[in-house]
Amino acid sequence: MSRKVIIAGNWKMNKTVAEGVALVNELKPLVANVDNAEIVVCPTFTTLSAVVEAAKGSNIQVGAQNISWAESGAFTGEISADMLKEVGVEWVIIGHSERRQYFGETDKTVNQRTKTALAAGFKVMLCIGESLEERENGTTNDVVKTQLTGGLEGISASDMENIVIAYEPVWAIGTGKTATPEMAEDTHKACRSVVADILGQEVADAVRIQYGGSMKGANSKELVGQENIDGGLIGGASLSAKDFSELIINAVG
Ligand code: 13P
Repeated sequence: MSRKVIIAGNWKMNKTVAEGVALVNELKPLVANVDNAEIVVCPTFTTLSAVVEAAKGSNIQVGAQNISWAESGAFTGEISADMLKEVGVEWVIIGHSERRQYFGETDKTVNQRTKTALAAGFKVMLCIGESLEERENGTTNDVVKTQLTGGLEGISASDMENIVIAYEPVWAIGTGKTATPEMAEDTHKACRSVVADILGQEVADAVRIQYGGSMKGANSKELVGQENIDGGLIGGASLSAKDFSELIINAVG
C-alpha cells in the first residue's frame, strides 16, 4: 500500500501577513523539486488570503487551523466554511490539542467541524493524541481510540479519502521531546487498527497518519520511515523556510 507522504506546517499563532508571505516566498524554491510529498502550510486566519496568493502556481497547499461547524450567524470569533472557500483554502486542521486544552474543543465538536468541513469540500487533518499523564498511565491506545471513535462518528469510507489523521502526543508538542520512532509507530499502528474496526481494513490501509510533536530535520527521516507514519504535522520547525524545507527533504529526499 503506497500512501503519499504529507507534511504540513501548523504556524499556530505566529507570523503576520508580511512574515507569512516572506516565508512562503522563501520556501517555494527550496521545495520546488519535491514531488513525492504533499506540502501544506497552515497560517492564521488573517494571513490565509495573502499566503494563498503567494503559494499560487507552487507545490505548496494552504490550510486553515480551524473551521466553524455552523454555516453562519451568532458565533463570535468563529470562521465559516464559506469564508475559507472564498479565500481559496484546501485544508483545515481540526481538533488540535491546543484547541482541546485551551478552547474547550471536544470529540463532539471535532466531529461536527469535520462533517461541516467535508460537506464543504475541504480536506481535513484531524488531530488526536494523549497527554503525558495518559501516556504514563498506559492508556494511550484507549485515548486515541476514544478520540477517533468520537471524531469519526458518522463519517463514511468515501469521506475518509479527504481525512488525514494527525497523531500528536501532547507531551511531545513544543517540548523538544519527540516520541521515539518505535513509540510513534506503535501508536500509529493502534490508530490504523481502530480505523479498521470502524470502517474496514481497506480504508485503514489507505488513510494517512501524520506524526506531530517536535519533528525536525534531524529526526524526520527516521519517523517518516516507519511503516505506519505517513508524514508530519509540524509546529516550531515550520516557522523557518530553511528548517521546514530541510525537514521535508530529509524525510522524503
Ligand atoms: P511542534 O513541532 O512545535 O512540537 O508542534 C507540533 C504541533 O503541535 C503541530 O500541530
